[in-house]
Amino acid sequence: MYKTIIRPILFQVDPEKVHNKALKLGSFFGKFAFFRKFLALFYDYRNDKLEVNVCGIHFRNPIGLAAGFDKNGVLFDIIPSIGFGFEEIGSVTALPCEGNLKPRLFRLIKDKVLVVNYGLCNDGVETVHQRLANKKFGIPIGINIAKTNDKNIKGNKSVDDYWKSYEIMENIGDYITINISCPNSGDGRSFEDPRLLEKLLSKLKMEKPVFLKISPDIDKKKLSEVLKLSKRYSVSGFVVANLTHDRSFLKTKNLDSLEGGISGFCLKEKTDDLISYIYKKTKGKFVIIGVGGIFNAGDAYRKIRNGASLLQLITGMIYEGPSIVKKINKELVELLERDGFKNIEEAVGVDAR
Ligand SMILES: Cc1cc2nc3c(=O)[nH]c(=O)nc-3n(C[C@H](O)[C@H](O)[C@H](O)COP(=O)(O)O)c2cc1C
Repeated sequence: MYKTIIRPILFQVDPEKVHNKALKLGSFFGKFAFFRKFLALFYDYRNDKLEVNVCGIHFRNPIGLAAGFDKNGVLFDIIPSIGFGFEEIGSVTALPCEGNLKPRLFRLIKDKVLVVNYGLCNDGVETVHQRLANKKFGIPIGINIAKTNDKNIKGNKSVDDYWKSYEIMENIGDYITINISCPNSGDGRSFEDPRLLEKLLSKLKMEKPVFLKISPDIDKKKLSEVLKLSKRYSVSGFVVANLTHDRSFLKTKNLDSLEGGISGFCLKEKTDDLISYIYKKTKGKFVIIGVGGIFNAGDAYRKIRNGASLLQLITGMIYEGPSIVKKINKELVELLERDGFKNIEEAVGVDAR
């Protein structure tokens, strides 16, 4: 029904307006237990084979909502009822930010991608902290922090900017993701500079698992530095990966005037390869959260077999509808059984060894 009736209607409307409406409705209806239970009847799916334990955290299934859909932490009540196993809130930044000028979110339907140029719009770490403090979450929650979108915050100031967000948010949720791959941070650069990254990592207390979210476009030399530093400073793992700037895969042409990073279908292979590369190179020492172009159970399973213990998605849900989570989880169980695995953990990295 989503693809034949709901999606054609939604896709007539500006994507950011649809996104904001979904946030409003989700936040409102999520407050009512009967509504959450009703939704769960349709969307939730449980099976022991899907349970994953990583970094001392128990996940009832490996499919999470990726950062960027719920930047301000308003959906945590309803997300478990849609069937997700965890949620990453954010990116939040030290200072609130209105983001880039609108329009700043676009669908390229032929390519099954989104062009995202939000520019890290969010309420800021203090407001989001207030919203989430002392709340009970039904599933594990990650907090994704990024550098404030301000071109004057660069160099050592950006280390302080991340640090402020980390300090404020470290008592919320189950893990922290440091988004070092968002080029929409005002200075036009992501934060993969090893010198600055080392300064930041050396300040973090690591009392909670810390993940680094990397770019799918990262070059191997930079990646090697990031991996070395991550080992030295006990980073738990990586979110692989963020939006891409590579447009060579797109069928839609003449996009020069459209700024932003690309999500969805064209990230599928790029992120599969990067997950496999990191898993092999580090001999599976880091936890990998695989994200990028997951539209079905086959996509999810490939990322697991390449080395991901957990997965996240956004674009698949927008193109396929919210039932995608249940469908993937159900079919993942069938794929595990077909290949003789008792659970997800047994399948992690089997194609990357
Ligand atoms: C609308 C939108 C907003 C996003 N905003 C963020 C963000 O604030 N922080 C972040 O780390 N990633 C952000 N992302 C990237 C996603 O978390 C994810 O890495 C990427 O979309 C690939 O997954 P997908 O193909 O399943 O969408 C955003 C993606 C989308 C589609």
